[in-house]
Amino acid sequence: MNETLNSIHKRRSVRAYESKKVPRDIIETIIDAANNAPSGMNSQPWRFVVIEDDALHRQMLEAAVPNAKTMLEPLKESNPERYQMIMKRYEELDDPIYYGAPAIIFVIGTDKYADMSCPLACQNIMLSAYSLGLGSCWVAFGSLITDNEEITKSLELKEGEKIFGPILVGYPKGDTVSPDKKPPIVKWI
Ligand SMILES: Cc1cc2nc3c(=O)[nH]c(=O)nc-3n(C[C@H](O)[C@H](O)[C@H](O)COP(=O)(O)O)c2cc1C
Repeated sequence: MNETLNSIHKRRSVRAYESKKVPRDIIETIIDAANNAPSGMNSQPWRFVVIEDDALHRQMLEAAVPNAKTMLEPLKESNPERYQMIMKRYEELDDPIYYGAPAIIFVIGTDKYADMSCPLACQNIMLSAYSLGLGSCWVAFGSLITDNEEITKSLELKEGEKIFGPILVGYPKGDTVSPDKKPPIVKWI
């Protein structure tokens, strides 16, 4: 297996991080990889905000948790076991949203091609992070902070812009769970 395929196959979502900071040049390399993703009309409809500040991290956590809980509410009826399991995690973990990651990268979509292009930039972040010995995780719940004006001001989020990710990046702590993957459904013609 070549290095690219190895990263694709071995990357897994990391949900526990060492507090050790990721050097800035490494984050820059990762963002450069994101910026090289394909995009509609080569529009590169993204910008990046890297959160390393502990106070802002905590503020985002406090803003996101109640919104995540509201979003999870329907699970109570449709899948009570899973709901209980997630709520238990919320009680046990100090940071059930950003998992203590030292860097949180917001990929902010800036124009009409963002919906199709930004997820590719996100994937490049996750694969390049893996290739550099780092863990990553796309945490959609971490984007539930847009009702907090102070946070959106920090992100300089403008009308019409949309958050993708954010993507956590950091040094993995402990073992990473590797969920089973179903075989692909393929039709050959
Ligand atoms: C769009 C998207 C949103 C996600 N949001 C979250 C999230 O909020 N919290 C979380 O722990 N994982 C989140 N994940 C990670 C998925 O749970 C994970 O990719 C999936 O379980 C497969 O595991 P793997 O990434 O290890 O292959 C998200 C992944 C994607 C692609």
